[in-house]
Amino acid sequence: MSEPLLRVLSRMRGHLLDPDVLVKAVASGRQKGQQPRWKRVELRYVDLKAGRHLQVTAYDDTQAHTSNYATAPAGQPSPARDAVDDLLDQPFGNWHVDTTTQSHQVRVTKKLEAVAHTTDRAAEIEVDRGHDRDKVRLLAEDDPVFRALGLTDAQGRMKPSRQAKYRQVEEFLRLLDASITDALDKGHLRRPTAQEPLRIVDLGCGNAYLTFAAQRFLTSVRELPVVVTGVDVKEQSREHNSAVAADLGVDAEFVVGSISGARLDRAPEVVLALHACDTATDEALARAVEWEAQLVLAAPCCHHDIAAQLRKAPTPAPYAMLTRHGILRERFADTLTDALRASLMRIAGYRVDVVQFVESQHTPRNTLLRAVRTGSPVKGGGVRKEYDELVAAWSIRPRLAQLLDAREAGTGA
Ligand SMILES: C[S@@+](CC[C@H](N)C(=O)[O-])C[C@H]1O[C@@H](n2cnc3c(N)ncnc32)[C@H](O)[C@@H]1O
Repeated sequence: MSEPLLRVLSRMRGHLLDPDVLVKAVASGRQKGQQPRWKRVELRYVDLKAGRHLQVTAYDDTQAHTSNYATAPAGQPSPARDAVDDLLDQPFGNWHVDTTTQSHQVRVTKKLEAVAHTTDRAAEIEVDRGHDRDKVRLLAEDDPVFRALGLTDAQGRMKPSRQAKYRQVEEFLRLLDASITDALDKGHLRRPTAQEPLRIVDLGCGNAYLTFAAQRFLTSVRELPVVVTGVDVKEQSREHNSAVAADLGVDAEFVVGSISGARLDRAPEVVLALHACDTATDEALARAVEWEAQLVLAAPCCHHDIAAQLRKAPTPAPYAMLTRHGILRERFADTLTDALRASLMRIAGYRVDVVQFVESQHTPRNTLLRAVRTGSPVKGGGVRKEYDELVAAWSIRPRLAQLLDAREAGTGA
């Protein structure tokens, strides 16, 4: 049942301003016809040397910006209070506010009223106020999924050797969460139901860390029914992943086969391809286009194809210095490959962002292509012309272009 928006926001304000009870709050989405300054904002209290502060992490299209605001007793000027009021003034479409005893979900309707849903926790929870952003986890370290995947020990503590993987999973979940919220808000993804769960495929899933983490996060934290399928050429992956699924009691299917050839009963709506090797990322993008997938998250891995073509083709003037030195040529090939992929996806009717996936000190393979199907190819011939001129100038032919052309012509590539 809807309630006046101001009344509900003022109730949430009470929770947001209580440093003793707020665990974490997330604002995301947008109100009808409005655009908040940030795509998503997360709030929590942290204990710094200078006392308890409100920590706000605000996300734009490409990165996170973190700021800390001092708290103060009622009646005194409080930067934290001002920051909360500024954020409540922003036209976010959703607020999720977790306190030590309750979880509140607020959705703003098209009529600019609020639908609020509150769940009581079975028991009061303790809050970790350490000033370590890593501890603001989307999936807790002791979540059963990490034990089943062998990342944690018997006590539910992350194994030191698996910290980097855990961080990668978390960063991926952050991007997935923001992308799904945005796609749902804008109507690019349908709202899934228990009868019609969201169909997600992970292409080149390997040992399915990200597949299982996505399934667990979306169902248990976001409460979105999803069904996941993993595809990998290795039979060993299917065996390993099926055993993990059985251990977790999760309904997930694992298929052995190439990304290009995998047969699925129904076309997936979300396609994931994370560090699929070299042109396997092109295969994944081409399948996503074929399936008309609404959301695609692809983190490319090694980029050998265009690098090899650059080595053979004459470098157009005056760009010889870009390819003269091996290391620069490889890096340039990486950039060129992903820029061309983004362009081809735009031509195929997707809105594309290229964003940082994990911080570069953790892996150099940290670019992620996020594509949302808008259904309408980019207007005018400008993008196509720019693409054609670029590949002609460098005498290259990206694998994705070959795959898309072959599918259009109804032949294999
Ligand atoms: C580097 S691993 C990444 C695994 C997983 N996505 C992750 O991020 O943890 C790449 C995986 O892609 C699989 N792979 C590579 N090319 C493939 C193809 N053409 N079709 C299916 N699987 C492929 C490999 O077998 C391997 O398991």
